[in-house]
Amino acid sequence: MASHNHKRVHIATFGCQMNAYDSKRMAGMLAEMGYAQVQRPDAADLIVLNTCSVRRLAEEKVYSYVGELKRLKREKPWLIIGVGGCVAQQEGDKLLKRLPHLDFVFGPDAVTSLPELVTEAIQGKRQALTKLGPPAGPGRIIVPAEPGLRAMVTVMTGCDNFCSYCVVPYVRGRERSRPAGEILDEVAALVAAGVREVTLLGQNVNSYHDPDSGLDFAGLLGRVNDVEGLWRIRFTTSHPKDLGQGLIEAMAGLNKVMEQMHLPAQSGSNRMLKAMNRGYTRERYLEQVRRLREKVPQVALGSDIIVGFPGETAEDFDQSLSLLREVRYDFLYSFKYSDRPFTKASRIEGKLEEETKSSRLVELQALQREIGLQEHQAQAGRVEELLVEGPAKHGRGLMSGRSRAGRVVNFSGGPELAGSLVMVRITLGRENSLAGELLPATGEYKA
Ligand code: 5AD
Ligand code: SF4
Repeated sequence: MASHNHKRVHIATFGCQMNAYDSKRMAGMLAEMGYAQVQRPDAADLIVLNTCSVRRLAEEKVYSYVGELKRLKREKPWLIIGVGGCVAQQEGDKLLKRLPHLDFVFGPDAVTSLPELVTEAIQGKRQALTKLGPPAGPGRIIVPAEPGLRAMVTVMTGCDNFCSYCVVPYVRGRERSRPAGEILDEVAALVAAGVREVTLLGQNVNSYHDPDSGLDFAGLLGRVNDVEGLWRIRFTTSHPKDLGQGLIEAMAGLNKVMEQMHLPAQSGSNRMLKAMNRGYTRERYLEQVRRLREKVPQVALGSDIIVGFPGETAEDFDQSLSLLREVRYDFLYSFKYSDRPFTKASRIEGKLEEETKSSRLVELQALQREIGLQEHQAQAGRVEELLVEGPAKHGRGLMSGRSRAGRVVNFSGGPELAGSLVMVRITLGRENSLAGELLPATGEYKA
């Protein structure tokens, strides 16, 4: 394969953690073909875009990005350009038609076909692989060359929930769980490569069940918790309607499962929740939060909120604001509603003005900043275990790590601490991070 040795690939990743995970797998497969990764598209012989279509803005970015590559391809006719991910799945052949300089298109279930797609593109074949379904053959375990301290592991793909605004069920297909054995093998391989923390990924991890043994997500957490050499486990995303007592007990009982949960509410208004087809009421959601906090008092909660869903009134929006005040989230992702293809909500009458959506988003985010800051300030004085990642982004002599709840904590310490667990006392809370002071190491916390 000597002829492949000077090849360079640039992978541009948009969207969620699923895509980040898939991009790492792509990089691994391409490395086997002799492709080195480069950060700049103009240094590459192969450009792969891993795209997201969950919101309109994300989709528009793809078209403008690929549009701009036209010039590059004119200068370098051998350049191969491929588009993967959810926009690829959604648009399929249309992308090839609209973008004549594009070489291939592949959906999320065709990731493992990437090497063939590249080889065939070099031979001049233009094609779109967008068949949804279980990947052919056993799922491949691909461990990145230098995975770092933290890694993601997919436990299930697709979604069966059909929230009325969401394109995911159409572009990622039906829910499919990976066999537990394969997940455990992947975790073990990552740990052997130096990984200490894994995040288990799925659109709705709570509905995980092992296709062979029927093991549920709480059971899977128990098995991952037993992997030697692994220190920390996180997971995302949990659907509030499926958050069972079993998972809550597992979180409370398993020492490696971190006290953090992303539990997207989407709205605080029952009328909107119904129109969104979320399968729970505000009251039921709050009850889930109460049950979780009862067993896992220190849990940091996160949420997604959509503002300006079709028909959302000022009162409905107030209900979302009051939900934020009532739950007091640690982190929040908020979005303006946008129409997505295939979805029921895109066909509802009563779309809101862009201006209304924008001002609601601003108001919601301002409230969350206030709550987030207060929650962070309330951490002062607490003793926290950190997994130290490396030098802090800002501030000389500062190191940075994450607490069990997932908060970024900066403290003064030496670079030799990177990759170890340390104890700190929190001294100060800021909007996006905490400050702490290093406590003397006890044997127990040394890596
Ligand atoms: N418009 C705005 N936000 C959306 N999301 C999903 N679909 C849409 C849409 N059509 C948000 C939801 C989801 C997150 C990943 O993106 O909040 O949880
Ligand atoms: Fe989309 Fe709802 Fe499935 Fe989440 S649970 S991926 S919002 S359909």
